[in-house]
Amino acid sequence: MARRRQIYEGKAKILYEGPEPGTLIQYFKDDATAFNAQKKGTISGKGVLNNRISEHIFTLLAQIGVPTHFIRRLNMREQLIRQVEIIPIEVIVRNVAAGSLSKKLGIEEGTQLPRTLIEYCYKDDALGDPMISDEHIACFGWASQEEMHDIADMAIRVNDFMCGLFAGIGIRLIDFKLEFGRIWDGEFSRVILADEISPDGCRLWDAVTNEKLDKDRFRRDLGGEVEAYQEVARRLGLLPEGAENAILDMETHRKKRGI
Ligand code: TMP
Repeated sequence: MARRRQIYEGKAKILYEGPEPGTLIQYFKDDATAFNAQKKGTISGKGVLNNRISEHIFTLLAQIGVPTHFIRRLNMREQLIRQVEIIPIEVIVRNVAAGSLSKKLGIEEGTQLPRTLIEYCYKDDALGDPMISDEHIACFGWASQEEMHDIADMAIRVNDFMCGLFAGIGIRLIDFKLEFGRIWDGEFSRVILADEISPDGCRLWDAVTNEKLDKDRFRRDLGGEVEAYQEVARRLGLLPEGAENAILDMETHRKKRGI
């Protein structure tokens, strides 16, 4: 079989050419980075878990009418997606103060915000994804006013839905990051949700103990990353009892065979 063409390699995923025009294959790696890739590591089995978690959330979002790039999961680490023109903006939605917001404004982590806060960062690794305002977006033409309206609207819908989804399984949704892309139909385009939603780009705290069930375990050297991601998958009903070991066994098997 001909080797498929790699389109792009990011920090946590690889994109390959898809089977039909307008599609891509999104491959989830175990690589983890933090602080703009200054810290690097691997979380064994993360790619498998994020593939499943993201599939689950994107499927539920599509059911409530949020358009996404997700078509279907292909295997343990890959999903078929629609090719989009990525809008170079990271959309951060916050319900509770944590991370860079707490640091910047001196607000204690865990403080409930009086309203949902949306922040934008310019997606540029070399610049360290600087925070930007609507004015920057309009000034440099990264997205139109209409697109930004749709993006903010979808971000709020995703937040409302995910807050409920996670609350139902004893998890507090602190904050998360979304990315959007354009799909074209002739000269018209529309914005859909792209990238992934997983513990890599969300802060998820146990509702009772405040234990962190996300990538902060890696960022802050807390340990137990795989267990935390597995716990999220398990509570979402994606890991039948005993499947945790099955995933790790498969990983060991895969590594032994060098695939
Ligand atoms: P922050 O507090 O570091 O700004 O992060 C806010 C949220 O966005 C957090 O859930 C992690 C996520 N995030 C990413 O997914 N990618 C990034 O590059 C950054 C900086 C944050």
